[in-house]
Amino acid sequence: MKIKKLPIEVSGPSISNLEKKYILDALSNGWYGKNKYYYVEKFEKSFAKFHKRNFALMTTNCTSAIHLLLLALGIKKGDEVIVPETTWIATASPIKYVDAKPVFCDVEKDSWCLCPNQLKKNITKKTKAVIVVGVYGNMPKMDEIKKIVKQKRIHLIEDAAESLGSKYKNIKSGKFGIASVFSFHRTKTLTTGEGGMLTTDNKKIYERCKFLRDHGRKPGSYYFDELAYKYMPFNLQAALGYAQFKRLKQLVNKKRWIFKEYKKNLKEISDIQFNIETKDTYNSFWHTHIVLGDSYKIDSKKLAKELYKINIPTRPFFYPLSSMPVFKERSLKTKNKISYLLNNKGIGLPNALDLSKESIRNVCKGLKRVLKKYKIEHKK
Ligand SMILES: Cc1ncc(COP(=O)(O)O)c(C=O)c1O
Repeated sequence: MKIKKLPIEVSGPSISNLEKKYILDALSNGWYGKNKYYYVEKFEKSFAKFHKRNFALMTTNCTSAIHLLLLALGIKKGDEVIVPETTWIATASPIKYVDAKPVFCDVEKDSWCLCPNQLKKNITKKTKAVIVVGVYGNMPKMDEIKKIVKQKRIHLIEDAAESLGSKYKNIKSGKFGIASVFSFHRTKTLTTGEGGMLTTDNKKIYERCKFLRDHGRKPGSYYFDELAYKYMPFNLQAALGYAQFKRLKQLVNKKRWIFKEYKKNLKEISDIQFNIETKDTYNSFWHTHIVLGDSYKIDSKKLAKELYKINIPTRPFFYPLSSMPVFKERSLKTKNKISYLLNNKGIGLPNALDLSKESIRNVCKGLKRVLKKYKIEHKK
């Protein structure tokens, strides 16, 4: 396969000989007898153990894992599920698949994750669950959120698609709430190209999701009582995932190194905010983002254009979900101010796992040149 690789990419994986070895093994031996799902089961078991969960279930992607979970929780028409405004569309779209209503809640300025105070304000009699998201590797204020959901008797779901490897008070992302979901999309720290995982301690939820994952099939049966879905993983994909999982520490360390290199190279630039790591959290820094302060007379769209002109690709900070036509929701710009501000002033820097010291230095050089042009210097 001949594909021209660009000098700097926004995202991309790290593939070693271990991945090649396991994939080749799955390709050669993974079709008969007990080997049919060898890597799927191995990956699921080790993933559950790593997160101190009783169960893990691999799926076709994270979107399908969320869908299965909402079905298993019995969420349906008339129910409301609270999600952050600032997240990928997939946190919210499965809520529509089950005919329920996503309610968009503002995030915090420091963590970019769901704001506990705003969460309280959005809970109604119809609220059945809240999905929190570890945005770009940052962790939400879990203790406060856990307290609220306990008091209000609603389910907590953790969308850990972007926070694999992160921790809150030394507890791994993937261990919070009734269940957690992960993405192994091409752009993620651990990738299977497309893929996902659900972790839970609840046997009933696990068994229901497993049943719904394969057309509602009872083991070995060709007879069906209930209409379900086809969200099955397969051995080759899981062989890739298992090899990546064995290298997780190395992959997360590279992401942390990328973040630190950006911080180091941009240290003289004032009034910009990076992903946060507090005394309570360990950040796996899936994707380094920056948010410009008021002293820059440029918005994120224009900044992306300027950087593109000098061959620096970027990624927009998530559009607030209520700002897009997809959910047919009126704009919540005046209510969810932080989410709208982050989209307007934030940007994702190149973050592929193959980034070198030199390419990060070049990105920073270009970025500094552009920012200098738009900085308002206040006279003392
Ligand atoms: C926060 C969040 N949730 C869900 C998803 C959906 O993941 P997938 O593409 O594996 O369905 C993603 C993926 O980008 C994500 O970032």
